Amino acid sequence: MLYDNHGRPLDYLRLSVTDRCNLRCFYCMPAEGINYLPRKELLTYEEMLRLVDVLVQMGIKKIRITGGEPFVRRNLIDFMWSLSEIEGLEEINITTNGVLTGKYIDQMKAMGVNAVNLSIDSLDRERFHHITRRDELPKVLETFHQLMDNNIKTKLNAVVMAGKNHEDLIPLAELTRKYPVGVRFIEEMPFNGNGANYEQLHWNHRRILEELRNEYPDLEKVPDGPNSTSYNYKVPGHQGKIGIIAAFTRTFCGTCNRIRMTAKGMLKTCLYDDGVLDIKKVMRDGATDEKLKEAFLSAFNTRAKDGYEAERNRKKSKKVTESMATIGG
Ligand code: GTP
Ligand code: 5AD
Ligand code: SF4
Repeated sequence: MLYDNHGRPLDYLRLSVTDRCNLRCFYCMPAEGINYLPRKELLTYEEMLRLVDVLVQMGIKKIRITGGEPFVRRNLIDFMWSLSEIEGLEEINITTNGVLTGKYIDQMKAMGVNAVNLSIDSLDRERFHHITRRDELPKVLETFHQLMDNNIKTKLNAVVMAGKNHEDLIPLAELTRKYPVGVRFIEEMPFNGNGANYEQLHWNHRRILEELRNEYPDLEKVPDGPNSTSYNYKVPGHQGKIGIIAAFTRTFCGTCNRIRMTAKGMLKTCLYDDGVLDIKKVMRDGATDEKLKEAFLSAFNTRAKDGYEAERNRKKSKKVTESMATIGG
């Protein structure tokens, strides 16, 4: 088992394979997009496999592939097949926007992908278009139905934004009536390429819960997993669960088991830090696996205790402004 300096087990790696995306969600990036990384700055698949292998030897058991949009990177599915062969890696998951995902579902099922998290902020085509700046709702819904038809464990992510999609809260929650799906509502964070565009977070986790309770007075609390980012609920008789992620309020740091690797090979030990180890540089300078492990361990032993400390320790800009597409969520 791998532990950090606060005694928290670390067994979950979020690996971002690209900073590119085929959508332009306004809470993630400006309309013109972000300055994408030049190809040579990205970790290659070979480098990623080496790093994952080293981290699995150290105690990582679960991996989530993130982006940008992971499927925008060429040959991702072949990389996933290679990951599925790593001894000791128990779970492969992916977070995707669902636009290009449909045609890979059979292969993901065949390689044993554990679960898919699908971002979907609205069920209304116009609002979806407005939020993501692309008219792709039909494809995302098709992916959702394919996931359901194939019995793949699925969670839907919806960022709740003042004046943009609060009408969607109940229609999205209603999906749990018929489908065994987790519908999770996420507090908006300032990772949008500009920084916070709200004075105060209007739709915080309490407000979201209040709205759900108004519609479903008999909403029941259900147990949360040991490292869950969401508080989970269920409407009696519904097949799926409803979750609320206090991503901005940061109430779950005490049980955080996750580390992140950005597409350019920067290790983050908290979503809110600005990178604590340039592991790509260490690797490209010729480090052995032992040296890589030493570098990782020293980063894990100086981990911030929560997202607030991580934010205070930032070296460049003190406030978070980067796009989620460069971090992977
Ligand atoms: P699982 O627990 O593996 O299902 O995944 P997840 O919920 O962590 O992952 P997902 O990629 O679906 O992210 C959902 C939302 O939670 C996104 O908005 C993430 O940015 C946010 N999130 C994930 N991990 C963290 C974290 O460590 N801290 C904070 N503050 N937010 C997080
Ligand atoms: N605030 C909260 N969640 C965000 N995501 C992207 N940007 C933000 C933000 N600024 C979510 C996406 C996706 C997950 C990886 O992160 O909706 O589901
Ligand atoms: Fe793309 Fe996800 Fe960012 Fe939307 S939130 S622009 S889908 S990376």
